[in-house]
Amino acid sequence: MSIIRNFLILFFTISSLHSQSFMVNVPARQQTSLNGKWKVIIDPVDVGIQKWKSLYKDKKPKGKSSFVEYSFDGGPVFDVPGDFNSQLPELKFYESTVWYKKEIQIVKKKDKRLFLYFDAVNYHADVYLNSELLGSHEGGFTPFQFEVTDLVKEGLNSIIVRVNNERQPDGVPAMGYDWINYGGITRDVRLIETPKIYIDDYFIQLEKSNKKHVLGYVKINGVKKPEKVEVLIPEAKIKHTVMTDNKGYAVVKFNNKLKLWSPDDPKLYKVIVKTATDKVEENIGFRTIETKGEDILLNGKSVFLKGINFHEENASRGNRAYSESDALQLLTKAKELGCNFIRTAHYPQNEHIVRLAEKMGFMLWEEMPVFQTIQFKNKSTSKLIHSTLKEMIKRDKNRCAVVIWSISNETHPGKLRTNFLSNLADTCRGIDNTRFVSSALHKYKKGKSVMTLDDDLIEKLDVIGLNQYLGWYGGWPADPKDIQWESKYNKPMIISEYGAEAMYGRHGAKDVASSWSEEYQEQLYKDQLTMQKNISFLRGTCAWILFDFRSSLRLHPTNQNYWNRKGLLSEKGYRKKAWYVLNDFYKSKKE
Ligand code: GCU
Repeated sequence: MSIIRNFLILFFTISSLHSQSFMVNVPARQQTSLNGKWKVIIDPVDVGIQKWKSLYKDKKPKGKSSFVEYSFDGGPVFDVPGDFNSQLPELKFYESTVWYKKEIQIVKKKDKRLFLYFDAVNYHADVYLNSELLGSHEGGFTPFQFEVTDLVKEGLNSIIVRVNNERQPDGVPAMGYDWINYGGITRDVRLIETPKIYIDDYFIQLEKSNKKHVLGYVKINGVKKPEKVEVLIPEAKIKHTVMTDNKGYAVVKFNNKLKLWSPDDPKLYKVIVKTATDKVEENIGFRTIETKGEDILLNGKSVFLKGINFHEENASRGNRAYSESDALQLLTKAKELGCNFIRTAHYPQNEHIVRLAEKMGFMLWEEMPVFQTIQFKNKSTSKLIHSTLKEMIKRDKNRCAVVIWSISNETHPGKLRTNFLSNLADTCRGIDNTRFVSSALHKYKKGKSVMTLDDDLIEKLDVIGLNQYLGWYGGWPADPKDIQWESKYNKPMIISEYGAEAMYGRHGAKDVASSWSEEYQEQLYKDQLTMQKNISFLRGTCAWILFDFRSSLRLHPTNQNYWNRKGLLSEKGYRKKAWYVLNDFYKSKKE
């Protein structure tokens, strides 16, 4: 089935029906969870979307001569949230379409509005209500919603979602990436009920580099005239009242003596945003994050980011992490390792992870899925990157734990890429200037023993992120203790990735990479940290990676078997020898 033909059919039917910008802080909203069992139809050649099939019509045979060659009844039933690849063995590497159906009873209330809200669906979703298309969303890692107030029926309603996770050359990410392309309704689904006039969006954080002021805004949906809004922080006896404009927008600015959030003391305040008809509560922390030359200051004090990377995966189950307990497992392991910083690679991970990380006192690097080979000159790709950036920031801008927005990972330097990402960095700062803009770079000048940062994009970044795999890909060019790093940029650097593969329980020569041994990985960590200690502008380091993780790129039958084995923990959570090297380093690193 040609993707283009599918696309054209889709384009003409849905081009005007994109998902609406979502409301913030959905966990605190009045809602009905639509998680649970959904009936599915697996559609490997994506025929259901064809006009002659129109599977979303969910037809039933009528009369003796008619029959229908599909049905949601009697087929597989999948868990939502959850990827579909791990729910049937034959779907292990499946990349195509699965249709989902859920029926819900609805009692319509005349003074309420209803929204169908998806925390995320990978990769492309077309959403139908009672067989009418509500709209579509592209991108597997950010939320989207549809207002259904005037579209639902009293009583039984059916929701059908066509989910397609086929890689797209103009996609974000595109064709090549080192993780499993888990498809499906991978995160929570909610039916949200709001008053007619509801609190849609707000930003309540400290003004950039000025802990005296809270500076932000509130956006009310549904107003036609100015609306009174109160922002309350009862514990701090703060009650701030503003009037919106006719569009429901108001700037929020007030003085404060709030206790600041930090990894050692992750203080959160209950913040209430209130209008005449709506009220939303949220636990929010307040901190400042800034650079001072080559240093990073948290709340005005120098800080070293003791980091680890992890994917949004439950390694022991071997599938997408989606729940609070999955988040707790990942974060507890990071805490045990001695981290105060996590890079949630390479895409915005679910809100359970971000909110719990904040509660547990982790600073976060949150990243756009702009991974390696991206078609920057492609108009729809560019549009998608910008909408994904806005969605990422919109969802997590009130999370003080998020200190870095990363706009890309290992994209190949070049004029087009650098111009595109430079503009994206400006767009990012234009939306939120209270956090660092960074990117995980991988190109630098490799001398015999001198490594020189050399990527024009650095000019646009607040903090330099660098992935380097010295000692693994390509071995060591010199004795690690003699390797010097040079930078002309007077900016702090975070080593956003380094590491090596090892099979847990495999023992062998510490100087033979193909041993895939714990000893080789252990020695590599010792050598890396020896080298890193020599880097004067290094203000953070982030090992690749916490757990072994699944990847369709890793083909060695005995050493990998579709797992990337760079974890410090095996998929079952067993500690490899390198874990202790990093743990000792972090224990020794006081500031
Ligand atoms: C890259 C990339 C990761 C990948 C890692 C590896 O740098 O960013 O996604 O998994 O290297 O090779 O293990």
